[in-house]
Amino acid sequence: MKKILIGNWKMNPGSPKSAESIFSEIKKSPGSTDVEVVILPPSIYIPLIKNRGVSIGAQDAYFEKEGAFTGEISMEMVKNMGCRYILIGHSERRLLFKESDKEIRKKIIAACVAGLVPIFCVGENNEQKNDGETGRVIREQLSVLEGLQVEEMIVGYEPVWAIGSGSPCDPEAAFRMRLLIKKIITQIFDRKVAENTKIVYGGSVDLGNCKKYIEEAKFNGLLVGGASLKKEFGKMISEIG
Ligand code: PGA
Repeated sequence: MKKILIGNWKMNPGSPKSAESIFSEIKKSPGSTDVEVVILPPSIYIPLIKNRGVSIGAQDAYFEKEGAFTGEISMEMVKNMGCRYILIGHSERRLLFKESDKEIRKKIIAACVAGLVPIFCVGENNEQKNDGETGRVIREQLSVLEGLQVEEMIVGYEPVWAIGSGSPCDPEAAFRMRLLIKKIITQIFDRKVAENTKIVYGGSVDLGNCKKYIEEAKFNGLLVGGASLKKEFGKMISEIG
């Protein structure tokens, strides 16, 4: 299975010129035929980097098809702008924008209808981790998939406490979570879907630790935030390839 390296630019950078220079650094990398590179830029920059040799996706889109929803974009628009992926359920959306599991489920359905591949994020926060609730939280977040028909999907294990903190999850603990996610996906769907679902790790991934999540924790790829805006992102491609 081809590995996947996803760069989530979040609400960065501040100008198209800077977006262009971040992107050109990525393009300088020799790359790897074994790694699919995906960029999730702010939606307004999608036209800048489409059709330029990497896959693209949006960081969010609304579940309604069209209409009076000021400020939103639809899954269909994302698809028609040349995107293949849509990030759904990122902890910043859950926390800062109060996205519920119910909305997340609707977004996954809408994404599949539009022909997008959801990158569906799950992960426990610090308190849940300290209370030994990680397994329950992951199971509950994944349960929004029950009864859905999902052709292709990526699941991101992103412990909330590891995101942007400089304290990544220990690869051994991440490995156990990967196994749990695989098991739950098998229970919700079947073995075939579980085999076809890529599971990626995210949370303070950098050039120094990226390889461990692939080689030791056996993830199919990485979801990178802060480091995806830096030169090291290009180097990660060959590091894991
Ligand atoms: P980080 O973010 O790499 O900056 O920790 C990861 C994410 O939010 O997907």
